Amino acid sequence: MTAENNKKYIIGPLEKKHDKTEFNCGVDVLNQYLKIQASQDVKKNVAVTYALSTPASEKILGYYTLSSIGIFPGELPDELVRRLPRYPALPGILLGRLAVDSSCQGTGIGQYLLVDGLKRSLQVSNQIGIVAIIVDAKDNKAVKFYEHFGFLKLPENTHRLFLPISTIKKLELL
Ligand SMILES: CC(C)(COP(=O)(O)OP(=O)(O)OC[C@H]1O[C@@H](n2cnc3c(N)ncnc32)[C@H](O)[C@@H]1OP(=O)(O)O)[C@@H](O)C(=O)NCCC(=O)NCCS
Repeated sequence: MTAENNKKYIIGPLEKKHDKTEFNCGVDVLNQYLKIQASQDVKKNVAVTYALSTPASEKILGYYTLSSIGIFPGELPDELVRRLPRYPALPGILLGRLAVDSSCQGTGIGQYLLVDGLKRSLQVSNQIGIVAIIVDAKDNKAVKFYEHFGFLKLPENTHRLFLPISTIKKLELL
């Protein structure tokens, strides 16, 4: 038995082997993204999709996407900007989409995906500069999900939240 077989979930970059045909998180735009757009975005180096499956099946039970993003200082709260150099744009990571199949929502997979995304972002931040992780929540319910994990709303944007990388470092996830 390999180490991978011992794990309950496997998360890795979206590949041809993954079965996305039945994925349904209850939000059409996020279902369609996985089925139609995700592979295109990977090919064009716009975003990387990370898919969660189990050792028993390639069926996708959840996914999230990561891209780099430039954050305009004016988007961030004053108290954070004051501590940063005055550059026209600051480097960030965008966790643009995160979704769990309806059949297993409420079983911890959303949290598992989010923590995986934070860990991956932390690893990247050891190699290139990252000020914060930005997330796009598609509605108020999704906003509450991210707030549950300490994300803060950007002052001028009700559906975009952030978490400073300095805060994530303190969580000692790695
Ligand atoms: C939002 C979503 C990703 C949550 O995933 P999930 O697997 O159901 O959530 P989990 O079981 O991992 O929950 C982890 C924790 O978050 C909390 N939580 C889950 N959804 C929440 C919400 N909408 N608001 C507040 N807290 C929430 C849970 O209560 C749990 O807390 P606990 O550990 O303190 O008990 C999932 O419901 C989903 O895919 N929804 C549709 C798509 C969507 O809204 N995506 C969000 C980004 S756009």
